[in-house]
Amino acid sequence: MKARGLTALALAIGLALGPAAAAQSPCAPTKADMEGPFYTAGAPRRESTGRGFVVAGAVKSAPSCAPVEGARVEWWQANPGGTYDDAHRGSLLTGMGGAYHFETDFPPPYSGRPSHVHFKVFAPGHRALTTQLYPKAGQTQATFDLVLVKE
Ligand SMILES: [Fe+2]
Repeated sequence: MKARGLTALALAIGLALGPAAAAQSPCAPTKADMEGPFYTAGAPRRESTGRGFVVAGAVKSAPSCAPVEGARVEWWQANPGGTYDDAHRGSLLTGMGGAYHFETDFPPPYSGRPSHVHFKVFAPGHRALTTQLYPKAGQTQATFDLVLVKE
């Protein structure tokens, strides 16, 4: 009975702190996700690796949300045939307000994995971030902010 009471208390505290903790951190760091086996460094600078799916967002710094200009954003993904190729690797530097955008082909699901675009983000004074975006079938655009942690 005592343990059950403590569990209930812990749950109540967790529920009470949850929203407050979130309010103190308007820019939670973007969750890291696996790199996978197909990353190759040095993706060429460009803003298009296909047509029909536009990804836009901003690189920001946690916890202040300060925009990070000049961050290097790299992406790579499967082509419409479900294979990774050099045509679907790109990189760019963020501009004013940390903003970036690029257009690409919609990534198909493959090998039992849902559609996804891989990202790596590098910025001075921040830890490198490796993550993934998971668009839904039929989606033509996505907003994807990338929030980095300071070193
Ligand atoms: Fe992948």
